[in-house]
Amino acid sequence: MNNTIGIVLAAGKGTRMNSTRPKVLHQVCGRPMIYYPVDCLKQIGIKDIYIVIGYGGNEIKSFFSDFPDKKIKFITQKKLLGTADALKRVLDIVNIKKGSNIILLYGDFPLILPEILDKQLKYHCREKADCTIASVVTKDFSDYFDYGRVIRNSRKNIIEVLESDQLKSSVYNYKEINLGIYCFKYSDKFHSLLSKIQPSPKGEFYITNVINLLKEARLKIKAFELNAQNYLVGINTQSDVAKVNKIMRERLISKLMSKGVTFIDPDNTYIEDGVEIGGDSIIHPNAYIEKDVKIGKNCIVGPCSRLRGKTVLEDSVVIGNFVEINRSHIKNKVKIKHFSYIGDAIVEEKVNIGAGAITANYDSENKNQTVIKKSAFIGSSTVLIAPVTVGENSVTGAGAVIPSGKDVPKNVTVAGVPAKILKRNIVVKKNIK
Ligand code: UD1
Ligand code: MG
Repeated sequence: MNNTIGIVLAAGKGTRMNSTRPKVLHQVCGRPMIYYPVDCLKQIGIKDIYIVIGYGGNEIKSFFSDFPDKKIKFITQKKLLGTADALKRVLDIVNIKKGSNIILLYGDFPLILPEILDKQLKYHCREKADCTIASVVTKDFSDYFDYGRVIRNSRKNIIEVLESDQLKSSVYNYKEINLGIYCFKYSDKFHSLLSKIQPSPKGEFYITNVINLLKEARLKIKAFELNAQNYLVGINTQSDVAKVNKIMRERLISKLMSKGVTFIDPDNTYIEDGVEIGGDSIIHPNAYIEKDVKIGKNCIVGPCSRLRGKTVLEDSVVIGNFVEINRSHIKNKVKIKHFSYIGDAIVEEKVNIGAGAITANYDSENKNQTVIKKSAFIGSSTVLIAPVTVGENSVTGAGAVIPSGKDVPKNVTVAGVPAKILKRNIVVKKNIK
């Protein structure tokens, strides 16, 4: 994709969100919504990606600085004069070769899919179009009331796209919606037409108004028509945030189900982007599994449990109800069945953690690590004050408090507050249920 650049518009304030946070940083399935269109461009192989920033620009930059990537560059739009002006900021600064393609996306459109974008770009090239817009024909406007409408003449050729504030009520019935995914062929003509756009009633320069200028200049305009079932909607309001989160969650869960994961109640299970789950695992209702958590095969994640901080569960791990696991590595066949908090821990094979046992991992300055070695048995309500290690096969009695730095050796039983050794050379019972 050397002859194609990607541009993502993200300068707007998102007035309709009624929030001080820039709209594109509101979260969808664990990531700021702008992550998705940018990732989509990367996934189809676009090497030059420009993000237009304005309101909250430094916060947006700072999000991307966590994943340094030479493909991404930022261009500032000082005055928010509309989407056409935002595009013009990029074209005025960047030296783009004639005949190259420009993919223009909006940062508030996280449901976009790489396979759709790839097909649209291929269609645009095949048709040798100067502009290809993605559209959807729908009878149900409830999701698309404020969207641009694609207007065609009697020969079905696109003549313009009108925004809701430019529509006369009679044309509200136009059934074809502009989704806001564009491919343009770059030329001096195209660049100069951007300057000819007239301001809207709101005083903004709309990119959609370049369409009728392209038509007058006899350039080729095509629509890449998408099925309404793809359910592609953008985000302008807080209720759109909730709606889009739900759609993305459904997509993630159905993909996992197709790979053999059981969800007892998919509508009431919360999965974020980047979660991996192995086959034959069972996920119970109200589990909340945050971004990038990895779960192996044959695991159980119980109701109302929360897994986060890139936690890894290996295979055949059983997590019960009301268990929180954060930034931890839980190895094969571990059982943590009731009311535990396990943070910053490495829990080795076949460990059993009793009800209410927790790691006290935070000393008000640092997060400290707990290591629980193979086959140890942590009694109910044990408090492990990190940093601390419990040795292989050892047992902690119910209510034991293990102070930081007082590692429990292997094959012992400890109990009490602070815990003391009761027995040495114990043999842990096998096959604990
Ligand atoms: C836009 C389209 C509309 C389409 C809809 C699909 C225009 C004029 N209208 O409307 O046809 O149906 O998306 O979601 O493009 N932005 C800037 N600088 C600005 C203004 C906006 O960077 O000066 C950015 C915003 O941050 C946002 C994106 O452009 O990410 C789209 O702006 P928004 O105001 O949400 O446009 P819509 O009303 O949704
Ligand atoms: Mg929008």
